[in-house]
Amino acid sequence: MQSTKERVVVSVGGSLIVPDGIDTDFLSRFKALVLEKVQRGFTFTIIAGGGKTARKYQEAANAVTPLSRHDVDWIGIHSTRLNAQLLRNIFVGYAHTQVIKNPTIDIEAEEPIIIAAGWQPGCSTDYVAVLMAKNLGARRLVNLSNIDYVYTADPKKNPDAKKIEKINWPEFRKLIPEEWDPGLSSPFDPIAAKEAESLSLEVAIMNGAKLEEFSNYLEGKPFVGTVIS
Ligand code: UTP
Repeated sequence: MQSTKERVVVSVGGSLIVPDGIDTDFLSRFKALVLEKVQRGFTFTIIAGGGKTARKYQEAANAVTPLSRHDVDWIGIHSTRLNAQLLRNIFVGYAHTQVIKNPTIDIEAEEPIIIAAGWQPGCSTDYVAVLMAKNLGARRLVNLSNIDYVYTADPKKNPDAKKIEKINWPEFRKLIPEEWDPGLSSPFDPIAAKEAESLSLEVAIMNGAKLEEFSNYLEGKPFVGTVIS
């Protein structure tokens, strides 16, 4: 049966889940908001990033045995899967019981929440999020990270960087590197951006620490963040 509820894809940056240790305060607030929106008729597909777990394990392995890029990615993928299991358990009773590890497979889920994680080397969970949107026919993707906006340049390096509230895909793609690299610092990964453009997907980038902005965006109200479309 075709659902009339809107499915929103949410990519939760690992920096929010595991900024250093696991941020249970963020997770509690995120859970409360998502469940409130579920009561209001939204359904969600949530993709977990790797965060410090990914970085720490990658650095540790590399310090002992120099790793190929492929193996660095696999450590990252498994860290996203661990974080995804954490989310699946947090949303027990509401979340599909299987964490989705391949965003291209047929997904039969009655539950209002689907949790997904990293898929294969050579990309980030941003790309997985876009493929999940494609798979499930979602039109809106929210990227929760630790930045308020996309800026014209890296504000940490360039004091003249200006915030961007609205931008189209061709202009956005000019702002970011063309190639993806593990550890790349880009508001949305280039491979994901290319695919999102081809799908005419709307991607909203906002600060996950300010969950009221996520709520505002879902409700179609003004919000602090950047819309790419
Ligand atoms: P993330 O998506 O968390 O990447 O995946 P990130 O760029 O570190 O993003 P934030 O900081 O969490 O928002 C962690 C790592 O896992 C590997 C990559 O090495 C990535 O850097 N990965 C993840 C893949 O290789 N493929 C995937 O499908 C997902």
